[in-house]
This record gives sequence, C-alpha cells and structure tokens, in this order.
Amino acid sequence: MALTTAPARETRQGLPSILLKTVMAVTGLFFVLYLLLHMYGNLQILIGREAFDDYAHHLRVIGEGMIPENGVLWIARILLLASLVGHVWSAILLWRRAGKARQHRYVGSKRATYGSVYARAMRWGGLAILLFVIFHILHFTTQTITVAGEHASPAERVISSFQVWWAVLIYVAAMIAVGMHLLHGVWGACMTLGLNTSLKRAEQIRFISILVATVIVVGFLIPPFAILFGFVS
Ligand code: HEM
Repeated sequence: MALTTAPARETRQGLPSILLKTVMAVTGLFFVLYLLLHMYGNLQILIGREAFDDYAHHLRVIGEGMIPENGVLWIARILLLASLVGHVWSAILLWRRAGKARQHRYVGSKRATYGSVYARAMRWGGLAILLFVIFHILHFTTQTITVAGEHASPAERVISSFQVWWAVLIYVAAMIAVGMHLLHGVWGACMTLGLNTSLKRAEQIRFISILVATVIVVGFLIPPFAILFGFVS
C-alpha cells in the first residue's frame, strides 16, 4: 500500500479546524438544551389536553406587555436556524478536510476505520434528522401535512396524529436517529471543549452522553406511545 502524507498547507487553509469543531460543539449543546425543553413541553400532554394547550399558549405570550406576542418564540426560532446553519456548514467543511487528508494519507486503501464508520453514521444520521425536522415543522407548525385531518388545538393535532400507527413509526425512526447522533455528538462536543481532563472525567462524559441520549429518546417517545395505546385520549 502506498503511503503519502498530506501537504501541511492543505489542512491549514481556511478557518482552523478547532474553530469549526467548537462551532459544532456549542450549537450542538444548544440543540440539546432545546430538545430537553421541547421534551418537557410535550410531556404536558400526559396531564391532559388543557395543560398542553396552556403550555403552547404560554410559549407565545412570554414577557407579555414588554415583548410582542410570539416574540420569544421568534428569537428561539432565529437562534435555532442560525445554529443549524453553523452546525451543518462546519460539518461539511470538516468532512471535506477529513476526506482530502485521507486521500493523501492512504492512497489505494478503501478499508473503513472505526473513526470513519462513526463519521459516516453521523453524516447520514444528521441528514435523516434534518429531513425529519422539515417533515415535523410541515406537520405540526405550518400544518401543511395533515396526518389525521385538521384540528384547531395543538393537543388535538398531537393526539389525533399519534393515534395513527405509521405516524408513530416515523417518530420512532426519527428518535432512533436523534439518539444515535446524541450518543456520539455529546461525547464529541465535550472532547472538543476540553472537558476530558482525566480518565475519570472521560468516563463521566461517556456516562452523561448515554444519559442525555436515553432521557431524550424515552422522554420524546412517551407521548406518542401513551396516545397510541389509549392512555391519553
Ligand atoms: C415525539 C416527538 C415530538 C413531538 C410529539 C413534537 C411535537 C411538536 C409540536 C406539537 C410542535 C409545534 C409546536 C407549536 O407550534 O405549538 C413542534 C415543533 C417543533 N419541533 Fe417537535 N416534537 C417532537 C420531536 C422533535 C424533535 C426530535 C425535534 C428536533 C430534532 C423537534 C423539533 C421541533 C422544531 C424545530 C419545531 C418548530 C418550533 C417552532 O418553530 O415553532 N421536535 N414539535
């Protein structure tokens, strides 16, 4: 096998990789925070339709009297969109760089390494999540896609949707992708931010990654299954 090293200037062009990785880490952790809040909101459906609708209404009138209606919601949307652009853009630049470095280093070798399998899983998983989020916004926010007819209240939309088995299946598939992405993503973000100062700390980070991924997947899947099996109606 021919082994050549990449010219140093190839990897030094453009923004430093550590900056791109930091953008990925910070935006990724912001998504985790958003997901935890979103999950907490969704769980209100277990209390009842009214609790869920109240919660959805309160989100729109936070800071009433000082901030216009939907103000906080729009700030969150803008921050999420900016984070998404930063996250995807950094990922694409880093993948391109890794691809170029591999071409130079291992000419003729097509063997997948442990790291490259992870990288591929993150790439395709990330794309699947992006497609899900587009579907999800068209489903619940703009209501362009209707699963079980049109409904006026947010609670009715959620309940009627998850009474349909294939809608639950879509959300289960999406949550598997989200869980896998978080498992490696939270770990990677903590590494980038230099939190792995000792072996013990690295083990704690591994534990936290598993905990965060599990809490988010289980927490998000409780409402769809509770509705599908008739515990919430
Ligand atoms: C079973 C899982 C989920 C349920 C039941 C659910 C439910 C909802 C509902 C009802 C809305 C509309 C809120 C409203 O307009 O009042 C919404 C919006 C949204 N959800 Fe989810 N969601 C789930 C999972 C996720 C996941 C995994 C993500 C991200 C990966 C996500 C990201 C979003 C985003 C970005 C919005 C748009 C927020 C906005 O602009 O108003 N959701 N979700």
